[in-house]
Amino acid sequence: MIQVKIFFAQNDLRNFSYLLWDASQGTCWIIDPFDEKSIVHYIKSQGLNLVGIFNTHQHWDHIKGNQALKDQFNCSVMSLSGSLTEMGHGQSIQFMKTPGHTSDHLAFLWIDRSEVKGLYSGDTLFNSGVGNCKNGGNLDELFETTLKLMALPDETVLYPGHDYILRNLLFAKSCEPENPDIEEALRWVKGVSTEQGVGWTLGQEKKVNPFLRLNSMEIRQKLLSQEMKLDSSLEIERELFKKIRRLRDDW
Ligand SMILES: [Fe+2]
Repeated sequence: MIQVKIFFAQNDLRNFSYLLWDASQGTCWIIDPFDEKSIVHYIKSQGLNLVGIFNTHQHWDHIKGNQALKDQFNCSVMSLSGSLTEMGHGQSIQFMKTPGHTSDHLAFLWIDRSEVKGLYSGDTLFNSGVGNCKNGGNLDELFETTLKLMALPDETVLYPGHDYILRNLLFAKSCEPENPDIEEALRWVKGVSTEQGVGWTLGQEKKVNPFLRLNSMEIRQKLLSQEMKLDSSLEIERELFKKIRRLRDDW
């Protein structure tokens, strides 16, 4: 059985790294390694061998552990040319191009036979938010990518690159104060530690993430001009998405 071990970096950026591992085969793969010491320690303590490294993008905090892990385990950084990595037990990791936060950003899908179990979204989709475009990104591309991710099954569990959930929910509330799901999520998040992951599905995200709620009448009333409020065309959604991202940048 493939399991997920979540590593939370105790830094201001609140990075997540994810180890997919299988005790029966003794193999594992890491996504966006940050804290190489704790990752190496865990892999060794479980008697595993690291087969490959997946990086969602090249920002320093997503590749920081690469060199140390390569030196330690003689493993390779997986490239797009091998677009499917078999992990055994009918499970695999599949690359998905997700430009927006950076032009060459990738997400990884954890596939169980033909079902999508998990989405490792890097800095594209966060709990209750999306990534910014301040360091080499493009807002139009991020919008297109977000649409693509929204089309994945609602049961898909989201594994984002950072823990920004509390601040993102507070921003979501400022966009949509009357949404009871945001209020409930805020109550929940204040009572738990999110350092070992949130575990929400895309279906849950669609209830509270303003970037996935471009048809919410409350958000439209607040952020669109009178004549645009009832227009559900893709171009209006694009404008609204970009407006919410800019508001989040200054929030
Ligand atoms: Fe990044």
